[in-house]
Amino acid sequence: MKAVTFDGIGQVKLSDVPEPQIQEPTDAVIRIIASSICGTDLHMIRGTMSGMIPGTILGHEAVGIVEEVGEGVTEIKPGDRVVVASTIACGKCVYCQAQEFSSCDRANPNGPEAGSAFFGGPGTSGPFHGLQAERARIPYADTVLTKLPEAISKEDALLFSDIFPTGYMGAEIADVKPGDTVAVFGCGPVGQMAIASSILLGAKIVLAVDVIPDRLEMAAAQGAIPINYELEDPVEALKKHSNGYGPDACIDAVGVDSQQAHSGPAKNGFLSRLTSFIDQRLVAPASLMFGSQWRAGDAPYQALRWCVEGVRKSGVISIIGVYPLNAVSFPIGLAMQKALTIRAANCSHSKYIPKLLKLAEENDFHPADILTRMHVMEDAIACYKHFDKREPGWMKVELLPKNNAA
Ligand SMILES: NC(=O)c1ccc[n+]([C@@H]2O[C@H](COP(=O)([O-])OP(=O)(O)OC[C@H]3O[C@@H](n4cnc5c(N)ncnc54)[C@H](O)[C@@H]3O)[C@@H](O)[C@H]2O)c1
Ligand SMILES: [Zn+2]
Ligand SMILES: [Zn+2]
Repeated sequence: MKAVTFDGIGQVKLSDVPEPQIQEPTDAVIRIIASSICGTDLHMIRGTMSGMIPGTILGHEAVGIVEEVGEGVTEIKPGDRVVVASTIACGKCVYCQAQEFSSCDRANPNGPEAGSAFFGGPGTSGPFHGLQAERARIPYADTVLTKLPEAISKEDALLFSDIFPTGYMGAEIADVKPGDTVAVFGCGPVGQMAIASSILLGAKIVLAVDVIPDRLEMAAAQGAIPINYELEDPVEALKKHSNGYGPDACIDAVGVDSQQAHSGPAKNGFLSRLTSFIDQRLVAPASLMFGSQWRAGDAPYQALRWCVEGVRKSGVISIIGVYPLNAVSFPIGLAMQKALTIRAANCSHSKYIPKLLKLAEENDFHPADILTRMHVMEDAIACYKHFDKREPGWMKVELLPKNNAA
């Protein structure tokens, strides 16, 4: 079958790979009817999240039809139309029982301390083959798959695989309450979902920080106040829109590929630029050699630093942008002096998907509004390049396996 594979840092290709098989009684095999490209896939291709094994199928967001289930699968049946949770979890261990699926003790073959298991990720996350393919093996199918209501379109459903749950978790762990002021750093797909979720949770003012005009426009269309960090100093702008205090919470929806301001009042001085240069080389040395044609960030901790500087005293920082295990820099002194609460997580998708399907229906909320491109999977390599450059209109890309129309 055809699949999009990681072929080395900076290299992604369309490959012929073996068909997936049931390997464990708790597995299912699904036919994928839609998958999508995520900012997380970009970190891996740019080399800013290292440890990918060449040949791994990319992608962790998909909707499909179940073709086959192992004998231990009881909830999911062949023929079910399902959304796949990006994070793989056993459903049975103490963490899964507490709905902390991204901390599952059993799903990651590298052991309980290895971090979250997910599709299409580096060796440390499994590795498990991903979902940008015609078919996929789904471990722990009863937990990882959710049967979809008939009324939901496959486009809306696709956004429940990862980014709507992640954006919602970002707002939830930011403790967003009715009347709050919230700042969301990063207006990519995850940031857009964090903005939507903050509004759903009752935030009065949402401040949206980015530099890409059409992403800021989409944030504004949702009701957020756009802040272009190359036109305004984002920390000053946050204070300006919150009576001088700073917002109640800041959500980092950028992660390790964060950029610094290259012009305007927030442009760093020489020493800060030098520090960012060193930080970038320390966190992702291989990205320079092998991924240089891709747009790695040039200041891995910039968005996070602005969050800590901008939030009000006793406020909350919610970190949903991804950082690799070797990201070690954090302004702990300032956070401590400001009495901040800091929360960070890979999303526990299986906890949020059923709840958000209901919430979206009740609020007539359609996350697929951010899906701006639909392409056959054969176009994936070009799509990766456009999305990497954040070209106008390339907010979120759906990939359709050619022979899997449904
Ligand atoms: N925690 C989770 O479970 C989870 C799940 C999915 C995605 N993610 C992560 O969320 C992050 C965002 O994903 P995405 O798909 O939206 O990615 P994306 O790359 O499309 O978007 C990132 C956005 O951040 C902006 N940006 C860069 N530097 C900035 C800065 N200093 N301040 C403000 N904005 C800045 C970019 O211009 C871009 O629009 C990624 O790190 C991704 O890996 C986390
Ligand atoms: Zn994703
Ligand atoms: Zn578990």
